[in-house]
Amino acid sequence: MTDTSYDFGSGRADPDTFPVKALQAAARQAIEEEAVALTRYPGGLGHLGLRKAMARREQEREGTAVDPDQIILTNGSMQAVTLTAQTLQEAPGDTVIVEEFSYPGTLAAYRSLKLRMEGVPVSESGMRLDALEERLHSLSKVGRQAKFIYTISTCQNPTGATMPRRDRLELIALAQRFSVPVIEDNCYADVHYEGPVEPALYSLDDSPAQIYICSLSKILGPGLRLGYLIARSPVRDRVLENRNDAGGNLLAAAIAAKFYENGIWQHAAVTNAALKTKRDLLLQGLAQELSDACCWSTPAGGLFVWVRLPEDVDRKKLWALSQSSGVSYLPGSSFHVAAKDVPYLRLAFGHLSHADIGDGVRVLARCIRESRQSNAPRDFDSLF
Ligand SMILES: Cc1ncc(COP(=O)(O)O)c(C=O)c1O
Repeated sequence: MTDTSYDFGSGRADPDTFPVKALQAAARQAIEEEAVALTRYPGGLGHLGLRKAMARREQEREGTAVDPDQIILTNGSMQAVTLTAQTLQEAPGDTVIVEEFSYPGTLAAYRSLKLRMEGVPVSESGMRLDALEERLHSLSKVGRQAKFIYTISTCQNPTGATMPRRDRLELIALAQRFSVPVIEDNCYADVHYEGPVEPALYSLDDSPAQIYICSLSKILGPGLRLGYLIARSPVRDRVLENRNDAGGNLLAAAIAAKFYENGIWQHAAVTNAALKTKRDLLLQGLAQELSDACCWSTPAGGLFVWVRLPEDVDRKKLWALSQSSGVSYLPGSSFHVAAKDVPYLRLAFGHLSHADIGDGVRVLARCIRESRQSNAPRDFDSLF
């Protein structure tokens, strides 16, 4: 195996737009101002300044007031994923609903909590609500009511799908009808390139059944390990009761709070412009190299393109060939709720250079062709 030259595998922020100088200045000030607070444990909710900054972020995007005391800062949004599931779970073996393709970190966390996951098929509009309704029905018929629905409603990882407003309202109505709370993971909310910004579920329904997760990983950097959840009483208090780590990293939170003193949008505009250029380069490369063989998503935001492969690709061979050619990606099976080997792969583009995106797609396209049993044009016209 050669070293990976073209790493389309990991979903990271763009290193070129990481704000080194501004964060250095923020860190200097934060350490001075928080010296005493840093000698104490931060507590369950976390740094008030960052909670206020994230309340403002949410309010400015959603047009709905968010109380900073409903925000719980976490160690990345991954901790929020685990904490919310632990809070709503009653026993091992409980059933929960996820999109059929979902974020591997969530799938791993739920597996380790011994949750039984029901995967609902996804379309270009996100979780398919006809299939969700059917699933909720059949579960309740056999007395296995789902404990919650987990959805990545905007720029879904991995498919890139964004659920339109009308479907969001239908999802809320369905969840209410079956008395199932919803955990919305909105990690990619502000990694937005074009098109309408669809409303978060909590802004459409002010009941405690809406639990919301967001992150700073995708707008700033995952190394800070800063995420948060929004939950209303009594769920908020139950989440806090489940938290046993004396709070998150106060220093990282204080630095980010200083950095975002004037809101998140100024920096988001810089990062999103850079990422959109990379997304476009990747889409352009795919169109040049693979339009006869594959279909792929055109995500309105986020860090990934989801690629459908022809059935005649030998996926084991493709993996081996790609590895030995210096290209990495994540195979469809990593995202499948039951780890099924499906004819898809996910390409991340955020941290690659422009040249590597173009060159990497050319190498990947060659590997795909060499792993096929024929040169026949693809026999599908859509991603799903
Ligand atoms: C949908 C989703 N949720 C949560 C996470 C975890 O992010 P973090 O813990 O860095 O905030 C990711 C990371 O890729 C993700 O894609």
